[in-house]
Amino acid sequence: MRIFALSDLHVDYPENLAWVESLSRSDYTGDVLLVAGDISHDEPLLCRAMEVLRPRFRAVFFVSGNHDLWLRDSGYEDSLAKFYALMERCRALGIETRPQRADEGGPWIVPLQAWYMQPHEGEGSLFVEKQGEDPELGMWADKRAVRWPQFDGHSGPAAYFLSLNDCDVTDDRQYPVITFSHFLPRPELMFWTEQEFAATGLPPLDPQPRFNFSRVAGCRKLDEQIRSLNACLHVYGHQHRNRDRLIEGVRYVSHCLGYPREREQGRVRGVEGGPLLVWQQ
Ligand SMILES: [Fe+2]
Repeated sequence: MRIFALSDLHVDYPENLAWVESLSRSDYTGDVLLVAGDISHDEPLLCRAMEVLRPRFRAVFFVSGNHDLWLRDSGYEDSLAKFYALMERCRALGIETRPQRADEGGPWIVPLQAWYMQPHEGEGSLFVEKQGEDPELGMWADKRAVRWPQFDGHSGPAAYFLSLNDCDVTDDRQYPVITFSHFLPRPELMFWTEQEFAATGLPPLDPQPRFNFSRVAGCRKLDEQIRSLNACLHVYGHQHRNRDRLIEGVRYVSHCLGYPREREQGRVRGVEGGPLLVWQQ
Protein backbone atom coordinates (compact mmCIF):
# COMPACT_ATOMS: atom_id res chain seq x y z
CA MET A 1 0.00 0.00 0.00
CA ARG A 2 1.32 3.40 -1.01
CA ILE A 3 0.20 6.90 -0.06
CA PHE A 4 0.59 9.83 -2.48
CA ALA A 5 0.38 13.59 -1.86
CA LEU A 6 -1.01 16.31 -4.11
CA SER A 7 -2.55 19.76 -3.70
CA ASP A 8 -3.45 22.99 -5.46
CA LEU A 9 -4.75 21.32 -8.59
CA HIS A 10 -6.48 24.53 -9.75
CA VAL A 11 -8.30 22.68 -12.50
CA ASP A 12 -9.91 25.88 -13.79
CA TYR A 13 -6.68 26.02 -15.83
CA PRO A 14 -7.34 23.61 -18.74
CA GLU A 15 -3.68 22.47 -18.63
CA ASN A 16 -4.16 21.44 -15.02
CA LEU A 17 -7.38 19.55 -15.67
CA ALA A 18 -5.61 17.77 -18.52
CA TRP A 19 -2.74 16.89 -16.12
CA VAL A 20 -5.25 15.31 -13.69
CA GLU A 21 -7.05 13.48 -16.49
CA SER A 22 -3.75 12.12 -17.78
CA LEU A 23 -2.95 10.29 -14.51
CA SER A 24 -2.71 6.54 -15.00
CA ARG A 25 -5.93 4.52 -14.61
CA SER A 26 -3.99 1.44 -13.52
CA ASP A 27 -0.84 2.49 -11.60
CA TYR A 28 -2.54 3.66 -8.39
CA THR A 29 -5.54 1.38 -7.93
CA GLY A 30 -4.12 -0.09 -4.70
CA ASP A 31 -3.05 3.31 -3.36
CA VAL A 32 -4.29 6.24 -1.31
CA LEU A 33 -4.22 9.87 -2.48
CA LEU A 34 -4.22 12.85 -0.12
CA VAL A 35 -5.53 16.01 -1.81
CA ALA A 36 -4.57 18.99 0.35
CA GLY A 37 -7.03 21.54 -1.05
CA ASP A 38 -7.45 24.11 -3.83
CA ILE A 39 -9.03 22.04 -6.57
CA SER A 40 -11.19 24.90 -7.88
CA HIS A 41 -13.60 27.65 -6.80
CA ASP A 42 -15.95 26.25 -9.46
CA GLU A 43 -17.96 23.48 -7.79
CA PRO A 44 -18.86 21.51 -10.95
CA LEU A 45 -15.17 21.52 -11.94
CA LEU A 46 -14.13 20.46 -8.43
CA CYS A 47 -16.57 17.54 -8.62
CA ARG A 48 -15.33 16.68 -12.10
CA ALA A 49 -11.75 16.44 -10.78
CA MET A 50 -12.94 14.23 -7.92
CA GLU A 51 -14.75 11.97 -10.38
CA VAL A 52 -11.55 11.69 -12.40
CA LEU A 53 -9.39 10.92 -9.35
CA ARG A 54 -11.68 8.63 -7.37
CA PRO A 55 -11.54 5.50 -9.60
CA ARG A 56 -7.80 5.87 -10.16
CA PHE A 57 -7.04 5.28 -6.44
CA ARG A 58 -8.26 2.86 -3.80
CA ALA A 59 -9.13 5.85 -1.61
CA VAL A 60 -8.95 9.63 -2.01
CA PHE A 61 -8.90 11.98 1.02
CA PHE A 62 -9.61 15.71 0.78
CA VAL A 63 -9.49 18.91 2.83
CA SER A 64 -10.74 22.14 1.29
CA GLY A 65 -8.46 25.09 0.51
CA ASN A 66 -9.21 28.79 0.34
CA HIS A 67 -9.98 28.75 -3.41
CA ASP A 68 -12.49 25.94 -2.93
CA LEU A 69 -14.46 28.23 -0.60
CA TRP A 70 -14.58 31.27 -2.92
CA LEU A 71 -18.18 32.36 -3.37
CA ARG A 72 -18.21 34.33 -6.64
CA ASP A 73 -21.57 33.41 -8.24
CA SER A 74 -21.92 30.07 -6.43
CA GLY A 75 -25.22 30.99 -4.79
CA TYR A 76 -24.04 30.10 -1.26
CA GLU A 77 -24.84 32.49 1.54
CA ASP A 78 -21.28 32.39 2.86
CA SER A 79 -18.07 30.36 2.62
CA LEU A 80 -18.92 28.22 5.64
CA ALA A 81 -22.17 27.10 3.97
CA LYS A 82 -20.11 26.24 0.89
CA PHE A 83 -17.62 24.29 3.04
CA TYR A 84 -20.33 22.06 4.52
CA ALA A 85 -21.99 21.56 1.14
CA LEU A 86 -18.65 20.60 -0.45
CA MET A 87 -17.87 18.08 2.28
CA GLU A 88 -21.26 16.45 1.66
CA ARG A 89 -20.74 16.37 -2.09
CA CYS A 90 -17.29 14.85 -1.69
CA ARG A 91 -18.61 12.11 0.58
CA ALA A 92 -21.38 11.40 -1.95
CA LEU A 93 -18.65 10.94 -4.58
CA GLY A 94 -16.82 8.46 -2.34
CA ILE A 95 -14.13 10.91 -1.21
CA GLU A 96 -12.93 10.61 2.41
CA THR A 97 -13.10 13.77 4.51
CA ARG A 98 -12.84 12.27 8.01
CA PRO A 99 -10.03 10.50 9.89
CA GLN A 100 -9.65 6.83 9.21
CA ARG A 101 -7.04 4.12 8.77
CA ALA A 102 -5.57 3.93 5.28
CA ASP A 103 -5.63 0.15 5.37
CA GLU A 104 -5.83 -2.67 7.86
CA GLY A 105 -2.48 -2.51 9.66
CA GLY A 106 -1.78 0.79 7.89
CA PRO A 107 -1.39 4.31 9.24
CA TRP A 108 -4.10 6.65 10.37
CA ILE A 109 -4.95 9.38 7.87
CA VAL A 110 -6.21 12.50 9.63
CA PRO A 111 -7.54 15.43 7.54
CA LEU A 112 -7.01 18.69 9.48
CA GLN A 113 -9.42 21.51 8.69
CA ALA A 114 -7.91 24.97 9.11
CA TRP A 115 -7.73 28.52 7.83
CA TYR A 116 -5.03 31.18 8.05
CA MET A 117 -4.77 33.43 11.05
CA GLN A 118 -3.96 37.03 10.16
CA PRO A 119 -1.59 39.03 12.38
CA HIS A 120 -4.39 41.13 13.93
CA GLU A 121 -6.11 37.92 15.07
CA GLY A 122 -3.46 37.03 17.61
CA GLU A 123 -0.28 35.11 18.28
CA GLY A 124 -1.21 32.07 16.25
CA SER A 125 -0.48 33.85 12.96
CA LEU A 126 2.56 32.86 10.89
CA PHE A 127 3.17 36.57 10.16
CA VAL A 128 6.76 37.63 9.44
CA GLU A 129 7.48 41.31 8.76
CA LYS A 130 8.39 42.28 5.18
CA GLN A 131 9.81 45.61 4.02
CA GLY A 132 7.63 47.52 1.57
CA GLU A 133 4.60 45.25 1.86
CA ASP A 134 0.98 46.26 1.38
CA PRO A 135 -0.63 45.52 4.79
CA GLU A 136 -4.09 45.82 3.22
CA LEU A 137 -3.44 42.75 1.02
CA GLY A 138 -4.98 44.54 -1.96
CA MET A 139 -4.03 41.78 -4.40
CA TRP A 140 -5.34 38.91 -2.22
CA ALA A 141 -8.51 37.65 -3.92
CA ASP A 142 -9.90 35.98 -0.77
CA LYS A 143 -10.70 39.51 0.44
CA ARG A 144 -13.37 39.73 -2.23
CA ALA A 145 -14.25 36.08 -2.82
CA VAL A 146 -14.59 34.73 0.75
CA ARG A 147 -17.29 35.79 3.21
CA TRP A 148 -17.83 34.38 6.72
CA PRO A 149 -20.82 34.30 9.03
CA GLN A 150 -20.49 35.25 12.71
CA PHE A 151 -18.29 32.67 14.43
CA ASP A 152 -20.01 32.60 17.81
CA GLY A 153 -17.56 31.43 20.46
CA HIS A 154 -14.58 31.44 18.08
CA SER A 155 -12.15 34.28 17.34
CA GLY A 156 -12.36 33.74 13.57
CA PRO A 157 -12.30 31.15 10.78
CA ALA A 158 -8.96 29.59 11.83
CA ALA A 159 -10.18 28.93 15.37
CA TYR A 160 -13.50 27.64 14.07
CA PHE A 161 -12.02 25.16 11.59
CA LEU A 162 -9.39 23.92 14.05
CA SER A 163 -12.19 23.19 16.54
CA LEU A 164 -13.64 20.68 14.05
CA ASN A 165 -10.51 18.49 14.29
CA ASP A 166 -10.64 15.53 16.65
CA CYS A 167 -7.13 15.17 18.08
CA ASP A 168 -8.04 12.10 20.16
CA VAL A 169 -9.10 9.95 17.25
CA THR A 170 -5.81 8.05 17.02
CA ASP A 171 -5.48 7.46 20.76
CA ASP A 172 -4.44 3.82 20.56
CA ARG A 173 -0.92 4.93 19.39
CA GLN A 174 -0.45 1.53 17.77
CA TYR A 175 -0.26 2.84 14.22
CA PRO A 176 1.66 5.66 12.56
CA VAL A 177 -0.33 8.86 12.00
CA ILE A 178 -0.28 10.94 8.81
CA THR A 179 -2.01 14.32 8.90
CA PHE A 180 -2.74 16.75 6.08
CA SER A 181 -4.08 20.29 5.75
CA HIS A 182 -4.26 22.93 3.06
CA PHE A 183 -2.63 25.64 5.16
CA LEU A 184 0.91 25.86 6.53
CA PRO A 185 1.58 24.81 10.12
CA ARG A 186 5.00 26.45 10.64
CA PRO A 187 6.63 29.72 9.50
CA GLU A 188 9.96 28.25 8.37
CA LEU A 189 8.16 26.26 5.67
CA MET A 190 7.40 29.52 3.84
CA PHE A 191 11.02 30.16 2.94
CA TRP A 192 13.43 28.40 0.62
CA THR A 193 16.59 27.13 2.21
CA GLU A 194 19.70 28.45 0.46
CA GLN A 195 20.26 25.02 -1.02
CA GLU A 196 16.68 24.70 -2.30
CA PHE A 197 16.78 28.14 -3.87
CA ALA A 198 20.11 27.48 -5.55
CA ALA A 199 18.61 24.32 -7.07
CA THR A 200 15.80 26.33 -8.69
CA GLY A 201 18.22 28.45 -10.73
CA LEU A 202 15.82 31.40 -10.25
CA PRO A 203 17.13 34.98 -10.10
CA PRO A 204 17.06 36.36 -6.54
CA LEU A 205 14.12 38.66 -7.28
CA ASP A 206 10.86 38.83 -5.35
CA PRO A 207 8.10 38.39 -7.98
CA GLN A 208 5.54 40.11 -5.70
CA PRO A 209 7.40 42.62 -3.51
CA ARG A 210 4.20 44.18 -2.08
CA PHE A 211 2.58 40.87 -1.18
CA ASN A 212 3.40 39.38 2.21
CA PHE A 213 2.23 35.77 2.04
CA SER A 214 2.90 35.21 5.73
CA ARG A 215 -0.26 37.21 6.52
CA VAL A 216 -2.38 34.47 4.97
CA ALA A 217 -0.15 31.39 5.18
CA GLY A 218 -1.61 29.33 8.00
CA CYS A 219 -1.57 29.10 11.77
CA ARG A 220 0.64 27.76 14.54
CA LYS A 221 -2.16 25.87 16.22
CA LEU A 222 -2.15 23.46 13.28
CA ASP A 223 1.30 22.30 14.31
CA GLU A 224 0.10 21.82 17.89
CA GLN A 225 -2.61 19.54 16.54
CA ILE A 226 -0.13 17.65 14.33
CA ARG A 227 2.05 17.04 17.36
CA SER A 228 -0.75 16.17 19.75
CA LEU A 229 -1.82 13.56 17.19
CA ASN A 230 1.77 12.28 17.26
CA ALA A 231 1.98 12.48 13.46
CA CYS A 232 5.17 11.39 11.74
CA LEU A 233 4.26 13.01 8.41
CA HIS A 234 2.24 16.10 7.49
CA VAL A 235 1.19 16.99 3.94
CA TYR A 236 0.11 20.56 3.16
CA GLY A 237 -0.38 22.91 0.20
CA HIS A 238 -1.38 26.57 -0.32
CA GLN A 239 1.94 28.32 -1.04
CA HIS A 240 2.78 26.62 -4.34
CA ARG A 241 6.33 26.08 -3.17
CA ASN A 242 7.10 22.40 -2.89
CA ARG A 243 9.02 21.22 0.17
CA ASP A 244 10.13 18.03 1.85
CA ARG A 245 11.68 18.70 5.25
CA LEU A 246 12.18 16.99 8.57
CA ILE A 247 11.57 19.38 11.47
CA GLU A 248 11.70 18.25 15.09
CA GLY A 249 10.78 14.68 14.23
CA VAL A 250 7.96 15.39 11.76
CA ARG A 251 8.33 15.22 7.97
CA TYR A 252 6.53 18.10 6.21
CA VAL A 253 5.77 17.64 2.53
CA SER A 254 4.14 19.97 0.03
CA HIS A 255 3.48 18.80 -3.53
CA CYS A 256 1.41 21.49 -5.26
CA LEU A 257 0.58 21.34 -8.95
CA GLY A 258 0.23 25.15 -8.91
CA TYR A 259 -0.41 27.45 -11.88
CA PRO A 260 0.97 26.74 -15.38
CA ARG A 261 3.06 29.94 -15.28
CA GLU A 262 4.62 28.90 -11.95
CA ARG A 263 5.71 25.61 -13.47
CA GLU A 264 7.07 27.41 -16.55
CA GLN A 265 9.03 29.82 -14.34
CA GLY A 266 10.42 27.00 -12.20
CA ARG A 267 8.75 28.23 -9.01
CA VAL A 268 6.72 25.02 -8.80
CA ARG A 269 8.94 22.03 -9.43
CA GLY A 270 8.85 18.27 -9.41
CA VAL A 271 5.26 17.58 -10.50
CA GLU A 272 6.06 16.04 -13.90
CA GLY A 273 5.91 12.55 -12.40
CA GLY A 274 2.41 12.97 -10.95
CA PRO A 275 1.43 12.83 -7.26
CA LEU A 276 4.34 12.40 -4.82
CA LEU A 277 4.90 9.07 -3.10
CA VAL A 278 5.15 9.85 0.63
CA TRP A 279 4.56 6.47 2.31
CA GLN A 280 4.96 2.84 1.44
CA GLN A 281 4.51 -0.36 3.41
FE1 LIG B 1 -3.50 27.14 -4.39
